[in-house]
Amino acid sequence: TTPRIVVSRWIPDDAVALLREVGEVWLPEPDRALPAAELHEVLAGADAAVVTLSERVDAAFADAAGPGLKVVANVAVGHDNVDVPALAERGITVTNTPGVLTDATADIAFGLLLSVTRRLGEGERLLRSRTPWSFHLGFMLGSGLQGKTLGVVGLGQIGRAMAARAQAFGMSVVYTGRRRAPADVEASLDATYLPQDELLATADVVSLHCPLTTETRHLIDAEALAAMKPTAFLVNTTRGPVVDEAALAAALREGTIAGAGLDVFEHEPDVHPGLLDLDNVALAPHLGSATVETRTAMATLAARNVLAVLAGEPPLTEVTP
Ligand code: GLV
Ligand code: GLV
Repeated sequence: TTPRIVVSRWIPDDAVALLREVGEVWLPEPDRALPAAELHEVLAGADAAVVTLSERVDAAFADAAGPGLKVVANVAVGHDNVDVPALAERGITVTNTPGVLTDATADIAFGLLLSVTRRLGEGERLLRSRTPWSFHLGFMLGSGLQGKTLGVVGLGQIGRAMAARAQAFGMSVVYTGRRRAPADVEASLDATYLPQDELLATADVVSLHCPLTTETRHLIDAEALAAMKPTAFLVNTTRGPVVDEAALAAALREGTIAGAGLDVFEHEPDVHPGLLDLDNVALAPHLGSATVETRTAMATLAARNVLAVLAGEPPLTEVTP
């Protein structure tokens, strides 16, 4: 029989076309998030599911699909939305999309860094508010990046791409993480490993590139923010809950740190109201991987994972518990 493939949210056409080569594809309305109960109904009898980071994929999801579910392809590199052990227990393969979104995400991280340090959002708000202004030598001064130190938390693929951008802008690079990067990676980025407390105390910019796990939830809390320099900036393009957002709003208001650039939020899509009133924070609505090219690459990689598993072949990019 023809496999049933359920797609939980809109994906690019190229990926849909690939899925249609092998199965009957259920697609949602283009711009509507399915409540879990509706999604679970649609899942009944599915052989494969393609999901995004907004869907919770857990035992109830697997049970709603039934015993035929063989693969869940998450169209994201982060997979904190998936209970991988619960799916593994049921023999369901989980895949993600590493590699294809590395540069797009590092670009947004660096864009937010430039936006907050050079006050681009603030300047645009000034112009759009029709406030009179004139160029003068003391007008809207920001802080330069050259000669400053970027502190990367998690020197994986995206962390390395961020470090390379910082290097090109004349910054030096330190990093921290669960383990040391290979010597050739350290050498090519001229990156120095530091324990987290030392990195927080010395970096002019702290950029988060670790996955969200039980260990990294609220990694940046009030204490970590207090350990940073008052002139330092925080950039978060990984997952919101890595930062205690209420503590961050307080730190930005009180001048504990100088500013922040945020693409992700603790209670997405909500943003802590304290952040919305501050000028020293640059905000983006989770745009890290949001380019036409990258989203096409992510979704077609997810589709190829589905095709592989349904054909009884090893997936391309599997997530193991
Ligand atoms: C996006 O946030 C991703 O994890 O791919
Ligand atoms: C700035 O606009 C300059 O010309 O230096």
